Amino acid sequence: MIRFGIVGTGRISDWVLQGAIQDPRFQAVAVCSRKADTAAAFISSHPQVFGPDAKVFTSIEAMAACPEVDAIYIGTPNTTHCPYTLAAIAAGKHVLCEKPLGCNLDEVERMVGAARAKGVLLMEAMISTLNPFFRALKEEAGKIGPIRGYETFYCQRSSKLDNFRKGIIAPAFDPRLGGGALEDLGIYTVYTMLSILGEPAGVRAEQLFEPTPYGPIDVEGHATLAYPGFNAEMTYSKMRDAKVPTTVTGAEGSLSVDEIHICAQDKLEKNPYFYEFEEFIGVLESGRRESAVNSHALALAVRRVMDSIHRQV
Ligand SMILES: NC(=O)c1ccc[n+]([C@@H]2O[C@H](COP(=O)([O-])OP(=O)(O)OC[C@H]3O[C@@H](n4cnc5c(N)ncnc54)[C@H](OP(=O)(O)O)[C@@H]3O)[C@@H](O)[C@H]2O)c1
Repeated sequence: MIRFGIVGTGRISDWVLQGAIQDPRFQAVAVCSRKADTAAAFISSHPQVFGPDAKVFTSIEAMAACPEVDAIYIGTPNTTHCPYTLAAIAAGKHVLCEKPLGCNLDEVERMVGAARAKGVLLMEAMISTLNPFFRALKEEAGKIGPIRGYETFYCQRSSKLDNFRKGIIAPAFDPRLGGGALEDLGIYTVYTMLSILGEPAGVRAEQLFEPTPYGPIDVEGHATLAYPGFNAEMTYSKMRDAKVPTTVTGAEGSLSVDEIHICAQDKLEKNPYFYEFEEFIGVLESGRRESAVNSHALALAVRRVMDSIHRQV
């Protein structure tokens, strides 16, 4: 059994636990929240996940110091990912951290460097690349001859958009917390693209911004990534729904998939979040300290592309 501490009591922590408990090697033993009452309420609202002895923490350092915690899942806003991960690693804990792993390349390099130096597992909780249907798609993409083109989309009108326009700004729209369409949704198109095609030679990007009291935030964007002999196009938006499939074109055929970030997840045998815990625990059990799928190299390459997009706009 791997004993997990859960940091953050929002939507995503609730979702991932539904998948995590499908792995019999998963055990949830503690919750860390900014308020003890919130952590306690989260534990009591998940009786199928937590036992009666589950612990409550109000600081990542205190949770990381707990000898009954083996690994920490971080499900808090983006700017907390780096400091929380470094605190957990410093205490020798393995870390499964929500996307984006860090808010810029410097952060990701420090997180990866710290994990390697301490000999602990650090994995980005990017579900798309661990989805069995995506893995099959990636394998098929290797059978259609040299790639000639790639178009990918993740355009989903945010349920928080109306509130955002009334001035109620959720972390995903908050520039102070590392929000924005690229970090929230665009990252899925970058991750899946780089998983299949590798790192591009160049990036050209445009984004649309809306104002907030804390500075502008990107709500939609497009980028062209240059590969030898072809371009790959990515479009992402938090302003509009567009159900456009992702298409990989090879010299001998093409593949198309709806919603590449979730890849037919309703047809999976397990909850989609199960697969990231299966991978994380499997890597730990095998004695490795890095996932071969959500690898450090992939996380760093994704971050370089995303930083390049931010710099250009
Ligand atoms: N993998 C996926 O499918 C997926 C989906 C959605 C989001 N995400 C990622 O998950 C993370 C959280 O997203 P979310 O939509 O769940 O966010 P959220 O609901 O706004 O925040 C999650 C939790 O973080 C804590 N928190 C809020 N503001 C904080 C702050 N300023 N400092 C420290 N902690 C704070 C809160 O828990 P407490 O009150 O207990 O402290 C909150 O419930 C993001 O990094 C996002 O990119 C992943």
